[in-house]
Amino acid sequence: MLRQIAPERWIAQAPAKVNLFLRVVARRPDGYHDIETVMLKVPDLADSLEFTPRTGGQVALSVRLAYPQALGALAVPVTEDNLVLRAVRMLQTLSGCRKGVQICLTKRIPPAAGLGGGSSDAATTLIALNQLWGLSLPLESLLTLAAELGSDVPFFIANAACQLGTGRGEELHSVAVRASLPLVLARPHSGLSTPAVYRSCVPEPEGPTAQAVIELLGRAGLSPLARRLHNSLQPPAEQLNPEVVALLQRFQRQGVVTQQMTGSGSACFALCHSLRQARVVAGRLRASGVPWVWITSTAV
Ligand code: C5P
Repeated sequence: MLRQIAPERWIAQAPAKVNLFLRVVARRPDGYHDIETVMLKVPDLADSLEFTPRTGGQVALSVRLAYPQALGALAVPVTEDNLVLRAVRMLQTLSGCRKGVQICLTKRIPPAAGLGGGSSDAATTLIALNQLWGLSLPLESLLTLAAELGSDVPFFIANAACQLGTGRGEELHSVAVRASLPLVLARPHSGLSTPAVYRSCVPEPEGPTAQAVIELLGRAGLSPLARRLHNSLQPPAEQLNPEVVALLQRFQRQGVVTQQMTGSGSACFALCHSLRQARVVAGRLRASGVPWVWITSTAV
């Protein structure tokens, strides 16, 4: 996944994800929630990270917005608690490596959207520096570091396009996908804070399970799958952010197969009957002023 673009410069892509299914099972004493989630990578929606290794220990991160007109109001602050910088520091501490790096991050994935952008950037940094610094840490160690950085980070370390996540979301199993899923992703003007959404969710210990979704992803045909999609975080997100309700209603009015919020929002997706329908839906959303819209056909 690392591609060399100049004598001392490498580039890697950090894909987004959508949660096709997310059930909050229970609150935990450690402040997290046990969840059951089916996550799917969206390879054509990806941040890119350019790495220039440094022999001294200095670390520098710069961030550029690929679509300032759509993401302009959503600037990502570069502070020490940025997940990419935390990933670098963690690797330096664990390995005792004294090398540094300059990282240029180009954001295409909107933040505070439930699309996993920050988590994916951090995972990509771990994988890239493990290689560029010659650390040879095994996958298991990278997964452990990833889980410390955030519940969604291990998903982006593992190679599989679709995975079932349990525990906090960090215990992963690959899921085979045969269905082709034409999706429109959209994010309203305002985002949502993951801790705030989790705080106001109602766990569903007896709720629907991911099993049916996993089985149906292995077959063609979208309608049975659509009936099994679920997100326990959607009701609290709708309470916290009325733009989520409006966006889901917009999707519904277009006669898509189904619509749902991803992760803790505020981005939502429409599962469409065809890529052609996805293009029409996306065009209408853009025309009605939705600031960020993306079409992807996750044909796997
Ligand atoms: O793991 P991560 O740092 O991404 O989580 C951010 C916040 O989201 C946590 O501090 C917690 O409030 C909430 N969360 C949760 N249960 C999960 C994942 C996240 O309560 N499984």
